[in-house]
Amino acid sequence: MSAPAATLARSGARAAWRRLASYVVRHPVYYGVWVAVTLAYTAGFVAVGRLVGWAVEAVAKDLPHAEVGRRVGWLALVAVGSGLVRFYSRTLVFNAAREIEYELRNDIFAQLLRLPQSFYGRWRTGDIMSRCVNDTNAVRLLMGVAVLNVLQTPILYLAVVGTMLRMNPRLALFVLMPYPLFILFARAIGRRVHHWSLLTQEGLGEASNQLQEAISGISVVKAYAMEGVTQRRFADVNQQLWQRQLALVRTNAAMPGVTSLLPALAMCLILFIGGSDIVAGRMQVADFFTFSIYVSQLTFPTFIMGWVVALVQRGGASMQRIDELLAIEPTIADPPAPAPLESLRGEIEFRNLTFRHPGSEAREPALRDVSLRVPAGTTLGVVGTVGAGKTTLASLIPHLYEVADGEVFLDGVDVNRIALGTLRRHIAMVPQDSFLFSATLAENIAFGKPDASVAEIERAAERAQLAKDVADLPHGYETLVGERGVMLSGGQRQRTALARALLLEPAILVLDDTLSAVDAETEAAIQRELDAVFRGRTVVVVSSRVSAVRNADRIAVLDDGRVVEYGTHAELVRAGGLYTRLAREQADREGARAELALAAGAGS
Ligand SMILES: Nc1ncnc2c1ncn2[C@@H]1O[C@H](COP(=O)(O)OP(=O)(O)OP(=O)(O)O)[C@@H](O)[C@H]1O
Ligand SMILES: [Mg+2]
Repeated sequence: MSAPAATLARSGARAAWRRLASYVVRHPVYYGVWVAVTLAYTAGFVAVGRLVGWAVEAVAKDLPHAEVGRRVGWLALVAVGSGLVRFYSRTLVFNAAREIEYELRNDIFAQLLRLPQSFYGRWRTGDIMSRCVNDTNAVRLLMGVAVLNVLQTPILYLAVVGTMLRMNPRLALFVLMPYPLFILFARAIGRRVHHWSLLTQEGLGEASNQLQEAISGISVVKAYAMEGVTQRRFADVNQQLWQRQLALVRTNAAMPGVTSLLPALAMCLILFIGGSDIVAGRMQVADFFTFSIYVSQLTFPTFIMGWVVALVQRGGASMQRIDELLAIEPTIADPPAPAPLESLRGEIEFRNLTFRHPGSEAREPALRDVSLRVPAGTTLGVVGTVGAGKTTLASLIPHLYEVADGEVFLDGVDVNRIALGTLRRHIAMVPQDSFLFSATLAENIAFGKPDASVAEIERAAERAQLAKDVADLPHGYETLVGERGVMLSGGQRQRTALARALLLEPAILVLDDTLSAVDAETEAAIQRELDAVFRGRTVVVVSSRVSAVRNADRIAVLDDGRVVEYGTHAELVRAGGLYTRLAREQADREGARAELALAAGAGS
């Protein structure tokens, strides 16, 4: 639950309430009508009590049968009307709360899509999920049940207590005497309910975390024969959850006991004091009934006040957590005055680029003083040692990380001045660990262009050398690939990701170690296809394998964030530096003698 201090500072309780208010004012009709309906409900609430008295009076005074019937008829009418109004008042406010929850959740999701990659390095997934699910839920309860009661109960009290005081001040004061005590009681129980339901929620969260980890890590669990331990760990969490739920059940069960106490106590007082008043002729039997009705009707709203207070507190805290997320300014956004670029030719330039990942300012920069120019329509190969900064360099081309002005240029225009839409339309990047969605193969390939035709999808798959694998899949392109593509092999996943990028026919294609899990023969076939498809387009091929970049027009060799060598394959081999060493090591490792012979032959 740790949000970075910088973002916490920007959001306080007041900002959170202000944001919540901005959602409320979007529903003026809901809340406006609701206030009117609540007033009508209050009037009905008071009237029903009075009408009961009125009807009783007719009986007590032995009025004609027709008159009794008329009064009872009115009572029934008002009671039904009041019930209907109550139904509408609840529906209105609960609908409004649902709508606010819905809008909040959509806004959070949109914000998550807006936020740059660096945000995801700083925030934990569980934290984000919990804000999106649990906190929006708490805000809904706040805007629904809590708002309903916080606004309605005082109005009810004013109306009912006012009426009681006018009817019989002495009895009213006596009857209301137990209420403060009762409110204390209710608050204590409300707190306990709140406490246990929070703990239950947390326990549920823990159990589902464990469940999720066990499922996604099932192959590791089985490989290490850890079923017993995993089972026991889950059983512990589950038992804790169960105990918390039992405590919640007990607390909830105590409620009716307490709620029935108050009317009983008040009835005793009414009987005792009101009874002697009736005998003494100071009070009508009718008023006696009206009082009893009021007392029993006020019980429930009074009782849940304790719970409502807890809901308000929790909802406020949740809104603050949501506001923290929504208040973050995306550091990568469309420039105020984007450069007028309709499309990209594909020239890439890095000028004295020095880059640190956001949040790792204390560390050495990931890229240091990188200057490279890739003319439009050419291929740049990027190789280097592990952790040299290859992925970082590749990610800066589509502007996935924040860069300073004057360091990265596309077609001679600073990347910070190019609209994000233009970048995303004309640059396709296949990331190192490409992600497949749990959808069909065709849907995964067409991810960047959902309206792609079947022919386009098949052509992209052929170019990525995936088509021959598709024949073996049970439903061809319509095969569901499972979560993260578990139904496919590593190499098939990589080629699916490649097909996804090729389908877009981008001006610039960035491949980040895309073919690491593909055998040499397939890799060569893909290379040939890419050469044909990408003639005239710009391609950046990042690889830890020299074989993948050998045919590139130019190759940059990265080491520890610096470009240490630059040139064609032949030039680099001749230079006999890091590139040659990498080629030799890989040749040794892979046992590919040809590579070594080539390097040695060309190097001598
Ligand atoms: N999101 C991040 N936040 C902080 N530091 C990072 C982040 N990503 C990478 N780094 C650091 O930046 C440096 C370069 O990482 P990068 O992923 O660019 O290397 P690479 O050359 O692609 O490595 P590999 O060959 O393993 O893919 C490393 O020291 C790494 O620890
Ligand atoms: Mg990498």
